[in-house]
Amino acid sequence: MKINVIGCGYLGTVHAACLATLGHEVVGVDTDAARVQRLSRGEAGFFEPGLPELLAQALGSGRLSFATEPTPAEVYFLTVGTPQVADGLAADVSFVHAAIDSILPVASLDAVVVGKSTVPVGTAAGLVDKLGGRALVWSPEFLREGFAVADTLHPDRLVYGLPDDPATACRAQNALDQVYESMLAADVPRLTMNYATAELVKMAANSFLATKISFMNTMAELCECTGGDVTLLAEALGLDARIGPLFLRAGIGFGGGCLPKDIRAIIARATELGVDDTVSFLHHVDAINQHSRDRVVDRALQLLGDEPEGKKVTVLGASFKPNSDDIRDSPALEVADRLHDQGAEVTVTDPQALFGVHRSFPHLHTESDITAALTGAELVLLLTEWQEFSHLDPQATIDLVERPQLIDGRNALNPRAWRAAGWRYTGMGR
Ligand code: UDX
Repeated sequence: MKINVIGCGYLGTVHAACLATLGHEVVGVDTDAARVQRLSRGEAGFFEPGLPELLAQALGSGRLSFATEPTPAEVYFLTVGTPQVADGLAADVSFVHAAIDSILPVASLDAVVVGKSTVPVGTAAGLVDKLGGRALVWSPEFLREGFAVADTLHPDRLVYGLPDDPATACRAQNALDQVYESMLAADVPRLTMNYATAELVKMAANSFLATKISFMNTMAELCECTGGDVTLLAEALGLDARIGPLFLRAGIGFGGGCLPKDIRAIIARATELGVDDTVSFLHHVDAINQHSRDRVVDRALQLLGDEPEGKKVTVLGASFKPNSDDIRDSPALEVADRLHDQGAEVTVTDPQALFGVHRSFPHLHTESDITAALTGAELVLLLTEWQEFSHLDPQATIDLVERPQLIDGRNALNPRAWRAAGWRYTGMGR
């Protein structure tokens, strides 16, 4: 099919490349001319395992190209960002409106528009008039950074939020079924529903995941004051099929471009709808998450003897999670920054994210070599569980540091092995 993907950020770039490898003729559209040039050379501009190879393959096939303006197509995917507004909790949907404005001059009346951006419930219904009869589907995306290619090509489910009018809904569904033909043939579940439900699926999924993490972080604190071990608690909980083993890792909490923004956007939307009490627990989820970062800062200051000035602190990890160079709302960098503010001499190391650290935190010292970063440290904090860090040898690293003190902010290391090697190991609730 002839497809345009409007907005070539994280989601759009991956989506465009994946659809081209499925055999469609795809144009990725972005208003940023420099980005379009870079993408046309096969450079994503961010780290995502498997994406460079996929882009090269798709560009090489001749089925993927990039442009600054939309072109005539059968299906238009909207994959623009919906960041948190600067002066509140709500999501800014202005890029979605701008994307629709940009396609109207070229999209024929039988074109199908598919919204994938995460939007507050009620947004899709408000866009219908603007589309002047073109069919609109709201089909949220659930990809995780670090696994974006696999999540796009082999999703857990496809969600179609369809228009009320049966004939338009049928036309839209048929078009989208054709786009995802190979996935449907592979039995990926496809759920059809109305716009509001589809919009809520995404908001609910991210709120639920955030709640799971904050719940475990409260359990971590309970473990800490009672002598329990939250990693064993999580293992035991996870064996209950009703709970499941995933997203139960306690630590310094969640960050990134989605979970923090989405729980705030759902609070903002519920407030607009007059049902803010219903989601008030999400304020606690957010506060617990912040508290998890505070706890690590407090512990670090304690270990530095409450005199952090001039003390050498090494932070392992800058990205908000491993296998990503994304530093948006990164818990690791907030902790590093706050220790720097307290006067510590902070060195940050990360396998992929140091470029972003230079740009956004120019005052933090960075070091790409782990050995150099650890040398002379009086306190080490593991804050993003990259394999490079979780596989460190406690015996080999102890000789590098000035004082063998370690905070494992992700419970990624084996406490027994590190303590046996002579480290003063502190985990999160264990
Ligand atoms: C999330 C959703 O998972 C995805 O479905 C949606 O499309 C976009 O938002 P992502 O932001 O890539 O994906 O990251 P995710 O893997 O969900 O992790 C979010 C944060 O939670 C990270 O900071 C991670 O370190 C943290 N986390 C995750 C925990 O602290 N504990 C866990 O058990 C799991």
